[in-house]
Amino acid sequence: MKMILLRKFRVLILMVFLIACSMHIMIDLLPKLERHGNSGCSCSHTPSEEPQSWGKQGWPNKHTLRILQDFSNEPSSNVSSHSLERIPATGDKTQALKRLEHPGQQLRGDRKRQFMQDAAVTKNLPVKGSRLSALYEHPLYRRALPTLTDEDTLFNVNTDIRFDPKAAEDQAWTGEGTMEEFSPTGELTADSYPNWLRFHIGINRYELYSRHNPVIDALLKDLITQRITSVAMKSGGTQLKLIMTFQNYGQALFKPMKQTREQETPPDFFYFSDFERHNAEIAAFHLDKILDFRRVPPVAGRLVNMTKEIRDVTRDKKLWRTFFISPANNVCFYGECSYYCSTEHALCGKPDQIEGSLAAFLPDLALAKRKTWRNPWRRSYHKRKKAEWEVDPDYCEEVKQTPPYDSGTRLLDIMDMTIFDFLMGNMDRHHYETFEKFGNETFIIHLDNGRGFGKHSHDEMSILVPLTQCCRVRKSTHLRLQLLAKEEYKLSMLMAESLVRDRLSPILIQPHLDAMDRRLRHVLNVLSECVEKEGYSYVVENDFRDHGSDHAHNGPRRR
Ligand SMILES: *[C@@H]1O[C@H](CO)[C@@H](O)[C@H](O)[C@H]1NC(C)=O
Ligand SMILES: *[C@@H]1O[C@H](CO)[C@@H](O)[C@H](O)[C@H]1NC(C)=O
Ligand SMILES: *[C@@H]1O[C@H](CO)[C@@H](O)[C@H](O)[C@H]1NC(C)=O
Repeated sequence: MKMILLRKFRVLILMVFLIACSMHIMIDLLPKLERHGNSGCSCSHTPSEEPQSWGKQGWPNKHTLRILQDFSNEPSSNVSSHSLERIPATGDKTQALKRLEHPGQQLRGDRKRQFMQDAAVTKNLPVKGSRLSALYEHPLYRRALPTLTDEDTLFNVNTDIRFDPKAAEDQAWTGEGTMEEFSPTGELTADSYPNWLRFHIGINRYELYSRHNPVIDALLKDLITQRITSVAMKSGGTQLKLIMTFQNYGQALFKPMKQTREQETPPDFFYFSDFERHNAEIAAFHLDKILDFRRVPPVAGRLVNMTKEIRDVTRDKKLWRTFFISPANNVCFYGECSYYCSTEHALCGKPDQIEGSLAAFLPDLALAKRKTWRNPWRRSYHKRKKAEWEVDPDYCEEVKQTPPYDSGTRLLDIMDMTIFDFLMGNMDRHHYETFEKFGNETFIIHLDNGRGFGKHSHDEMSILVPLTQCCRVRKSTHLRLQLLAKEEYKLSMLMAESLVRDRLSPILIQPHLDAMDRRLRHVLNVLSECVEKEGYSYVVENDFRDHGSDHAHNGPRRR
């Protein structure tokens, strides 16, 4: 009986594939037909069909220099910039997933290119006997996670990941259902999935990825070697960001280089008008990993050919139109956004290559919803107004009584994030996100770190205010910070060693690395003052005793 059902099911799947294939072919053909028939449609042309004299076409829509908008009422919405990742329609992703099951369709890879890519990635392998490996061998970096149940993993490999794309479209992903009986057996292990999908499968209640996960290294390599098949502008952001899709249907957020590594944020800039730095995104991923949080999605630096890998593959006419050739004969573009998207702020290559950071996408919001939370210590985003935490020294007491900070580990997660942000000088943490599936008992995702590493000559003590006001920290975090302050595990050295692995190395200039050592001492000083004032057992939350299932009952103590 089961066998018959199984066969019927296979036939059904086959039919769905056939239909999907013919639909893809039709979808691919449609724009071409349209182009022949109707030249009035300006929306879906592939730019490569346009005249090649684009550099001389005159300057499209010359933007006037924007007066920096007052930011005060903008990010007050409950949607953080990253929530806009839903923009690349779910349909794309599900189609992608369908296609993945037809590996034959993507075998038309360019061999020569593949060869060049492989040659370029072999450098920067981890060195045996390095400080970094010693750190990751340290007992503090070897603590096991609690046993994971289906409630603790974002996806259930046996049921969800047979990815029935239709189910994902029609209803919220429930993780249970009729597919269970036909869950894949032996030959369909997660090993056959692309690395981005394996990264998604590994996400759980406690971490975005595990410590010694080979998939993450493979994903980092994918980010810089996969062929870019399409590029779109990410709408909604204040600065230009591009969504890049790869040949294996993975996606990543591209932030182009806007500043050299030596430039510091000008002293009169507000933190909200500061540039987003590609190298800060890369460094933040490495710092987060060295701190053992593992709450930043993988980021890698890549040198992108602006002509071949952006202009020629984008279907976005608005983006395509902003390309021009500068007087110095470099390829430039500026895109569309609310800050710095004008010819005056164009991004120019050398002559056609531009550096940028590529951050792996988190699972599509249709598959794994996320909740956006306002940071209790968010800045006012107004040139004159002050936020409540700036004027009320007892602000933390208020926060501690407000859910979800009144129980569980959320407050301690905010403290971790505070330390992370202070070390890189990031003042722009207005919101944070969690995966909805895990409720309140989960880590917070450290997204959007591009405003870190702006100044190395200045330590912005106001970033540490949550810590000075609350005087709370996880014991595991505290011990790791102490370890990283020791000469043999010196944070700056570990960062330098970790960052050498990135293709765009050097990522940070030495003064930024030194600043992290200095800031780490500040954090430890704040914590010892707290211990002196409040007592060790009040300040340092022992998270070694119970981990996992009953951490919910172990809320922060109150006065
Ligand atoms: C918050 O999001 C919800 C649902 O997306 C929306 O209906 C609501 O208007 C948003 N609130 C604000 C303040 O933007
Ligand atoms: C970038 O791509 C263009 C067009 O494919 C090509 O002509 C050019 O040589 C490439 N530039 C580099 C530096 O590889
Ligand atoms: C999670 O936190 C919110 C506060 O934003 C609260 O309303 C909700 O009851 C909490 N859920 C649980 C299960 O504690």
